Amino acid sequence: GGIVHPPNAVSFQISFVLMTFCFHSATTFPKGCYQAEEDGYKTFRCSNAQLTEVPKDIPNDTNKLYLDFNQIAFLPVDAFRNLPVLLELELSHNAIVRIESGAFRGLSEHLHSLDLSSNKLVSVNKDVFSNLKAKVNLSSNPWLCDCRLQELIRTVDLVAGSSGSIVCDSSAKEEHVGKPFLQVVTDIDFCSVYKKTTDIAMLVTMFGWFAMVISYLVYYVRQNQEDARRHLEYLKSLPSKQRKSEESSTISTVV
Ligand SMILES: *[C@@H]1O[C@H](CO)[C@@H](O)[C@H](O)[C@H]1NC(C)=O
Ligand SMILES: *[C@@H]1O[C@H](CO)[C@@H](O)[C@H](O)[C@H]1NC(C)=O
Repeated sequence: GGIVHPPNAVSFQISFVLMTFCFHSATTFPKGCYQAEEDGYKTFRCSNAQLTEVPKDIPNDTNKLYLDFNQIAFLPVDAFRNLPVLLELELSHNAIVRIESGAFRGLSEHLHSLDLSSNKLVSVNKDVFSNLKAKVNLSSNPWLCDCRLQELIRTVDLVAGSSGSIVCDSSAKEEHVGKPFLQVVTDIDFCSVYKKTTDIAMLVTMFGWFAMVISYLVYYVRQNQEDARRHLEYLKSLPSKQRKSEESSTISTVV
């Protein structure tokens, strides 16, 4: 009997260690997420985990991060900080409507693939992707076709073959709706149209200011003329009054 006991104790200890390890990782990792090693890459998978925001506590040695098929709506500044070796970021099939500038800060050096397809993006500032070297998938979003999108697409390095699926869901011109952005933009430069309208607005504003300044000058000169005339009259009337008062004072001293 005495020979059987030690192995039992060891196996109990091992299973206890395993249990605490599993329990530990279950509490640290967000619900529905797990870590794996795939083809030598550290992978962190949270696909279809009903996440509403980017989870905290993602292991900092993660190479590939899968957050697709969730309900994430917003990517704040530094949403992916402390991931210095991240190569691939999969965010497709979420509900992302807004990405703050600086959301991908810290990923510029290593990230080579960023999937934002099948979200609810309407308009994104190009600064969001500044310094990013990754190939980006922006297809299947309800894009507003305007100068902002034109600038964005000029800045971003699109994944090959994905540009045809960047379709105008809305536009100032009804005829653009439902067409791929790159097809629309062969006929129209959204930014030059925008520039023309701002130029006209500038011109109108400048003319308005000019008219105001001129009318004020005219008013000022007229008012001054009036004042000068009145002042002159006052000055003319002054010596006689002074004389009179002087006279009266001399009279009083005499008296
Ligand atoms: C992850 O964090 C640990 C502890 O803070 C640090 O020692 C390690 O170098 C980090 N790993 C990477 C890949 O940055
Ligand atoms: C880009 O996203 C679309 C929609 O999710 C997908 O069908 C397509 O395969 C993606 N393209 C690449 C090159 O990954």
